[in-house]
Amino acid sequence: MTKTFANNQLCRDLGIQYPVFQGAMAYISTADLAAAVSNAGGIGILYSGQSPADEVRAEIRRCRQLTDKPFGVNLMLQNPHINDVLDVVAEEGVPVVTTGAGSPAAALERLAPLGVKVIPVIPNVRAAKKAASLGAYAVVVEGTESGGHVGEMTTLALLPQVLDAVDIPVLAAGGIADGRAMAAMMLMGAVGVQMGTVFLLADECPISDAYKQKIIEAADTDTIVTGRGTSHVVRSLKNQMSLRYSELEQQGADHTELDALAANGLKKAMNGDVEWGCMMAGQISGMLTHTDTCANIIRTICDDAANRLTTAPAILGK
Ligand SMILES: Cc1cc2nc3c(=O)[nH]c(=O)nc-3n(C[C@H](O)[C@H](O)[C@H](O)COP(=O)(O)O)c2cc1C
Repeated sequence: MTKTFANNQLCRDLGIQYPVFQGAMAYISTADLAAAVSNAGGIGILYSGQSPADEVRAEIRRCRQLTDKPFGVNLMLQNPHINDVLDVVAEEGVPVVTTGAGSPAAALERLAPLGVKVIPVIPNVRAAKKAASLGAYAVVVEGTESGGHVGEMTTLALLPQVLDAVDIPVLAAGGIADGRAMAAMMLMGAVGVQMGTVFLLADECPISDAYKQKIIEAADTDTIVTGRGTSHVVRSLKNQMSLRYSELEQQGADHTELDALAANGLKKAMNGDVEWGCMMAGQISGMLTHTDTCANIIRTICDDAANRLTTAPAILGK
């Protein structure tokens, strides 16, 4: 009989059914998406980006109206309002926080003593060790296959190196969108997975149908990374904007010109401008074929992963 994830450490600690994080997505993972993921048994993560504290509080409260299950908040540590946002997260009793873009020290200092599970998203071993030494509950290893801001390491190369380097739970992110990949990551030692791109195709995801359609149409090589060498390294679908950006970069264009081209890019894509917007999405886009509900996405991936893990000994033969 196929087992479930009932005894998985992450599920037990967080009070969730499936060891699945919906990765925070700027402007996109609002309460509607996060609550749908949490209601489906994973854990939804609200983005907070550069938002002021009162907006973050309002979204947390809206999410609470949409689900009675646990959900998390992603903190971008370069948010100019970060100290106020940390206060809000503490006051609202959010159980899980993921962090990106900067040192997680302030978040850990403020939130870990309250029992909040602080989980930095990290791109290399050095950052993982730092997070563990500061008292993080876990880390999310994020490979360069991911959509959005990316580092250099692939998920496959990074995960085992981080597992060897730290003794806290590790989740894998980047290039995961089906049960095969989830099972593989967990066989390697991850306690769970974080996915972003697959949730862009969720019915509950508030991006334009045109953006969703471009992901469905994408082939394996249809993403591009721009901004290497700057602090804005982004993977998105190829379109007029990202190809022009890349061309200008190669010609040594100055930052003002590049910034003007990319300004509000993700919002433009969300609103349907699939030529001049920035359609952040991961390399796994090439495999995605249709939209679906969060509940179906999560159940399909997790049932398949559990089935593969249950039957794994057969790989060795009798
Ligand atoms: C459109 C988009 C926006 C994202 N925005 C954020 C963000 O604001 N903060 C963050 O920590 N990660 C962000 N990410 C990364 C995701 O949380 C997640 O780690 C990543 O998508 C996982 O890789 P995958 O896309 O291959 O599933 C974003 C990803 C996408 C696709």
